[in-house]
Amino acid sequence: MDHSKFKLAGVMGMPVLQSRSPILHNHWIAKYGLKGAYGHFPVEAHNLEAAIRGLSALGLAGCNVTQPHKVEALKLMDVVDPMALRMGAINCVVVQDDGRLHGFNHDGFGYIQCLKDAQADWRADAGPIIVLGAGGASRAVVLSLIDQGAKEIRLVNRTLEKSQALAAGHEHIVNVVPWAQRSSAMEGCALLVNTTNQGMYGQAPLDVSLDALPKTALVSDAIYIPLETPLLEAARLRGNTTVNGLGMLLNQARPAFHAWFGVMPEITAELKQAIMATF
Ligand code: ATR
Repeated sequence: MDHSKFKLAGVMGMPVLQSRSPILHNHWIAKYGLKGAYGHFPVEAHNLEAAIRGLSALGLAGCNVTQPHKVEALKLMDVVDPMALRMGAINCVVVQDDGRLHGFNHDGFGYIQCLKDAQADWRADAGPIIVLGAGGASRAVVLSLIDQGAKEIRLVNRTLEKSQALAAGHEHIVNVVPWAQRSSAMEGCALLVNTTNQGMYGQAPLDVSLDALPKTALVSDAIYIPLETPLLEAARLRGNTTVNGLGMLLNQARPAFHAWFGVMPEITAELKQAIMATF
């Protein structure tokens, strides 16, 4: 890879200005003495195809893709990584040297890494796992937990059909549980994951009771705005170890940065501080 060439990347979504990805990628560009920049690309759905095609025409290294474009953008790729294909969504585009667009999804990798950062000896088969939500983030979390060797995943979503669709083909591991049983289904679980948008800035807190959850369970949230959701606060106060969504954001960014800029970057206290200073 030619390190002397100025490289451009960014995050494409709508809305997207709240994304902290530019802070972290630009932090790494400066830290590793690279030439490049990473920006926000606000793109409406009707402009997605033109914007994606424009990546190569403009000579960009690639981009991240976020809501609401993760599924549609996959269809515009020339090559799709097998994991992204299984998830049915991409979160990263890498423009190849020949101009072709290669789509990846690093969300699952980011999620697993953030658990391992929180608990070095974390194992997916330590006990039953309860996953709340069955949207795009859930798909990444559930598939990566299966790949890590999870034995039992209780999948709970407000809309039952969406959890059934996600569980299809994985019924030996993923049990679909009705939303009404979301609190009682926590019994005996070693890990709880919230992938719904409940608890996010501007949304109501997730409506669950943690009473049935063992205090030894790890409690994680894919949300990072706010860093401590009401769910994580309640879990921390009763003694559970908690993992916020910032680790998932930081870890999914590492392989993307590597693909665009040629350096596998490190997550440091200084980087976390730079991002936390923006809240
Ligand atoms: P993402 O890609 O971030 O996962 P998404 O695909 O829009 O976003 O998924 C949002 C998730 O939050 C879904 O599981 C959604 O439940 P539904 O499938 O029933 O829509 C969940 N969600 C949104 N609002 C909710 C609410 N008020 N109560 C419970 N779950 C909610």
